Amino acid sequence: MSSIFDASLLAPHVPQDIPENLKVRPLAKDDFSKGYLELLGQLTAVGDLDQEAFEKRFEAMRVSVPNYHIVVIEDINSQKVVGSASLVVEMKFIHGAGSRGRVEDVVVSSEMRRQKLGAVLLKTLVSLGKSLGVYKMSLECVPDLLPFYSQFGFKDDCNFMTQRFQ
Ligand SMILES: CC(C)(COP(=O)(O)OP(=O)(O)OC[C@H]1O[C@@H](n2cnc3c(N)ncnc32)[C@H](O)[C@@H]1OP(=O)(O)O)[C@@H](O)C(=O)NCCC(=O)NCCS
Repeated sequence: MSSIFDASLLAPHVPQDIPENLKVRPLAKDDFSKGYLELLGQLTAVGDLDQEAFEKRFEAMRVSVPNYHIVVIEDINSQKVVGSASLVVEMKFIHGAGSRGRVEDVVVSSEMRRQKLGAVLLKTLVSLGKSLGVYKMSLECVPDLLPFYSQFGFKDDCNFMTQRFQ
């Protein structure tokens, strides 16, 4: 099974108190058939991505350094991906050639929400980001989710602008 980043990097950061049927691990190439894109579809428009296009993008992300730390939660019983969140590390010249972490694409399957899976994902990524030595981590969210993210150490900083092309 090909992982998008080294699973041994993740293991120390995964909380221990999660149900036995759930596995927290890096995104794998065969997650295409485990509902990964359907899960992302609960977050935003995914578009028409077939298996070949998924695998091509997966491979490009896997070999890019620093890696895309895409973490998923698989329900072993149903063999479905039921949660995902990404930590993307961006290299800088500033802060002594430091790196900044960006949390992206946080989503938990609708039937699994409010069971602390989002918390597992965020705790895992924050711990992983610290261990990777990023000087800060940031994310974008709607105002309704400020209370959710503030539980994991994020503080509101409203100087955020976007320009959309699509
Ligand atoms: C946001 C999301 C990831 C949270 O996942 P979750 O697994 O349901 O969250 P958890 O069960 O870990 O929540 C832990 C605590 O966070 C808080 N919380 C969770 N969702 C919240 C929400 N939508 N608004 C405010 N607080 C929330 C609650 O205090 C919750 O504890 P409680 O259930 O005991 O009250 C999930 O609702 C989701 O996927 N939403 C759709 C996609 C999305 O909006 N993603 C975020 C993009 S920035």
